[in-house]
Amino acid sequence: MSHILTFGLSLWLLPSSAGIPEAERTRLPSRLSRPVLAQPAMADVAEPDAGSRNYQIALERIDPGTSRYPYCIVWTPIPVLTWLLPFIGHMGICTSAGVIRDFAGPYFVSEDNMAFGRPTKYWMLDVSKVYASGSDAWDCAVHDASEEYKRRMHNLCCDNCHSHVAMALNLMRYNNSTSWNMVNLCLLSLIHGKHVSCFAFLKTWLPFLILSTVVLTVALTLNLR
Ligand SMILES: *[C@@H]1O[C@H](CO)[C@@H](O)[C@H](O)[C@H]1NC(C)=O
Ligand SMILES: *[C@@H]1O[C@H](CO)[C@@H](O)[C@H](O)[C@H]1NC(C)=O
Repeated sequence: MSHILTFGLSLWLLPSSAGIPEAERTRLPSRLSRPVLAQPAMADVAEPDAGSRNYQIALERIDPGTSRYPYCIVWTPIPVLTWLLPFIGHMGICTSAGVIRDFAGPYFVSEDNMAFGRPTKYWMLDVSKVYASGSDAWDCAVHDASEEYKRRMHNLCCDNCHSHVAMALNLMRYNNSTSWNMVNLCLLSLIHGKHVSCFAFLKTWLPFLILSTVVLTVALTLNLR
């Protein structure tokens, strides 16, 4: 637990310096750049209709009951850390079938068994914004990023679960960008993330609200005395 706190605090205290080395590190490693990735960006994007149809199909296949979130980034609170800093949590990315992959610890990328429990938030991405449209490019990127992170030590401040997701997005050139990193993923998932259920909303926010209320009350009482 203490190492997670260290990570959270260093991310919080050093948001700018933490992002820079990580952004470099999550760029395409040379041994992963397959010929298929060398195609011009967006070369064979299908017509927009197919894209939005895929989006609709994937949206309908989201199933919190079995933890299936096709084409989503999923997020779950880390005890204590999220209570103090509610924008920091544990993150994973799902395959086209909705199976969660998350970098859960040193040399370990979990499959369908998210560390810290089931997701409380999901951010659905648009598969038509992948360099080559379709589930193959998406799954390939998620798979390659996971294989790469199976070989990596977990580094709390600059090579963690967010970096694994960022590498997958960089490999698939999501939104025609290869500058996905820990900091922008953290912010964007906070903005775009949808809560899975009412209980998930409470699990995410209630401890933080209670803690801040207590702290505020104590601070005010001491000041007004
Ligand atoms: C995708 O890219 C466009 C233009 O490059 C940008 O305006 C938009 O904010 C990006 N979307 C996300 C989710 O980053
Ligand atoms: C993707 O980005 C590159 C440079 O960043 C740009 O030249 C290209 O036109 C973009 N492609 C699309 C489809 O937006």
